[in-house]
Amino acid sequence: MKIVKTIAELREVLDAEIRKGKQIGFVPTMGALHTGHLTLVKQAVSECDFVLASVFVNPNQFNNAKDLERYPRDLDKDAQLLESVNCELLFAPSVKEVYPEEDKRRFDFGDLETVMEGKYRQGHFNGVAQVVSRLFEMVTPNKAYFGLKDFQQLAIIKNMVKQLQLDVEIVPCQIVREENGLAMSSRNTLLNKEQRKNASVIARTLFDSCNFVPETTIEEIKLKVFKRINQVEGLEVEYFEIVDGNSLQTIDNWNESAYIVGCIAVFAGEIRLIDNVTYKNTDHEY
Ligand code: PAJ
Repeated sequence: MKIVKTIAELREVLDAEIRKGKQIGFVPTMGALHTGHLTLVKQAVSECDFVLASVFVNPNQFNNAKDLERYPRDLDKDAQLLESVNCELLFAPSVKEVYPEEDKRRFDFGDLETVMEGKYRQGHFNGVAQVVSRLFEMVTPNKAYFGLKDFQQLAIIKNMVKQLQLDVEIVPCQIVREENGLAMSSRNTLLNKEQRKNASVIARTLFDSCNFVPETTIEEIKLKVFKRINQVEGLEVEYFEIVDGNSLQTIDNWNESAYIVGCIAVFAGEIRLIDNVTYKNTDHEY
């Protein structure tokens, strides 16, 4: 696998592949790769002729300096892992390469960004849209792969692609979990053993809550989820919302939408974890 750090080197490799008529599959990441990321790469490899991943810890999407500083980084290990799943190219640019000058663009995602992650992490999605649109401009992929773990991010990126009229297919990929159910995340490496064990209650609670649908009201399910997770030492729910999977707006009853998702953010000590579960999906592609 080749590793490139500049746009010029990146384009040299990609232009040669595109001239051969290859379909380009792209997996953007912030590194500290785990099986979740590698599953995205594997799916891309199975669907595209040439697959590249990027590793770039995007400062513009962190609204907390400490979170940016402690974000885990290990490019050598990432490169080895990507190679093991037949990724052909790794793009690992510097901040200057991605942002030669300050990116002052302000996206408007309407109601998609006023709830959940958008509400609690002000400016986060603007930073995500800035970097993903820059990366798409540099990579010009045919398909780009994103995890459903970051459910709201996926909605934002689809919306951005529409707004900018980009010619790229966004492919959603299923959530990959640890054996105990915890959704895989680069941030999990920051959890101690006890926190990791306790954090498994998040997924378990979400899965169990599905058994109460549709007999139990949305309000009651929300209370149950908050209560069970907050009971666990060291865990604190920041939000848990039951929303329409397309608009991301909260709903009041199970008949209000054909696609219903529960989205949660929980602090395990200082580490913030997110997860989601689909309650109902009768008319949607994923
Ligand atoms: P990062 O957190 O590194 O995630 C990269 C991609 O891997 C995202 O599409 C994310 O949803 C997916 N992913 C992470 N954990 C997963 C899991 N357990 N199962 C399935 N997919 C998973 O998300 C970002 O980086 C950044 O915001 C980025 C899009 C790269 C822009 O900077």
